[in-house]
Amino acid sequence: MTDIFSAVQLGDLTLANRIVMAPMTRCRAGAQDEPTPEIAEYYRQRAGAGLIVSEGVQPSIHGKGYYRTPGIHDPFQIEAWRTVNHGVHAAGGRIVMQLMHCGRASAEANKAPGAETVAPSAIASRHALYTPAGMAAPPVPRALETHEIAGVIEEFVQASVNAREAGFDGVELHCTSGYLPMQFLATGTNRRSDRYGGSPQNRARFVVEALEAMAAAIGAGRVGFRISPGSPYNDMQDDEPVETYRALLQATDRLGLAYVHVINVPIPSLDPLPFVRGNWNGPVIGNNELTLESAGRLLATGLVDAVSFGRLFISNPDLVERFRCGEALTEPDRRTFYAGDALGYTDYPTLEARMPA
Ligand SMILES: Cc1cc2nc3c(=O)[nH]c(=O)nc-3n(C[C@H](O)[C@H](O)[C@H](O)COP(=O)(O)O)c2cc1C
Repeated sequence: MTDIFSAVQLGDLTLANRIVMAPMTRCRAGAQDEPTPEIAEYYRQRAGAGLIVSEGVQPSIHGKGYYRTPGIHDPFQIEAWRTVNHGVHAAGGRIVMQLMHCGRASAEANKAPGAETVAPSAIASRHALYTPAGMAAPPVPRALETHEIAGVIEEFVQASVNAREAGFDGVELHCTSGYLPMQFLATGTNRRSDRYGGSPQNRARFVVEALEAMAAAIGAGRVGFRISPGSPYNDMQDDEPVETYRALLQATDRLGLAYVHVINVPIPSLDPLPFVRGNWNGPVIGNNELTLESAGRLLATGLVDAVSFGRLFISNPDLVERFRCGEALTEPDRRTFYAGDALGYTDYPTLEARMPA
């Protein structure tokens, strides 16, 4: 039986345990979309994870869709991320940056002047987004011209290089939750007639080319990606998820990437974890509503090499220690998930802090 506390190798990433902190947008970046000292403290507190996957970070001004999400496209941001990574590494942790390009899932009010909303096809999302002025409907995105796509991939490549320069151990390409890479994958958002649309292989091409280029720039063993096959989240629709994700996994399997991170949401045509194991030979991280017990059972099936926890890491900075000691867990407060300050962010106590002196 695989011990959740045992070390594991994901590509070039050596994890001290198999407990990964899932990526979580917390909308607390500074005025120049940089990570603040509070953000550095938040990640430092959670360095006991075998691997931290950062919140979604935009590779360019165009990739931003939400309020107060951080970027990695400006020297000032790179410098600020150095502080985050230094803190995590000094505490013995590992951290990769999740690269999130929102594509059509964007509110114009959250974007910098001059930033565009682009997508594979000019089809607006019906999912409203928070802005400081209230909820806003996303605009109809501009469909990318074929000749522009290499430039978008270059944004991911440069962001990966910047992430390494800032001290991240690697990067994770966010291909779930209805953002740009998933917009290319799904039939509902990709109506293209060029080589990036139509067949499953064509719809997978954007993600495959992006991962290939990122791997060439920083090493395949430092690049992972995240998927949730067939998930409808964020107004998504895919008529053939089995074909789409088989094409994607088979094309990326040969790249020798660090891992695929799977949000496990079974749909009638597809049970994600057995499906991924059947089409992919590299490491797999499994996610979604896991507990210590269910994660242990999942590891025992051999379908995953590591497991990730999201909300439990929000409210339990020392989650790994608590698991190890069998200690009670703190419930997260949803009201402070997004935006705000230290409240519900860096003020959740550790076991140590609760111990009497
Ligand atoms: C506040 C919050 C923000 C999230 N932001 C992201 C994100 O930026 N990128 C991503 O891939 N998933 C994001 N997720 C999804 C989580 O990574 C994870 O898949 C989800 O919470 C299920 O895991 P859990 O049951 O352990 O919380 C977010 C979830 C929460 C609760």
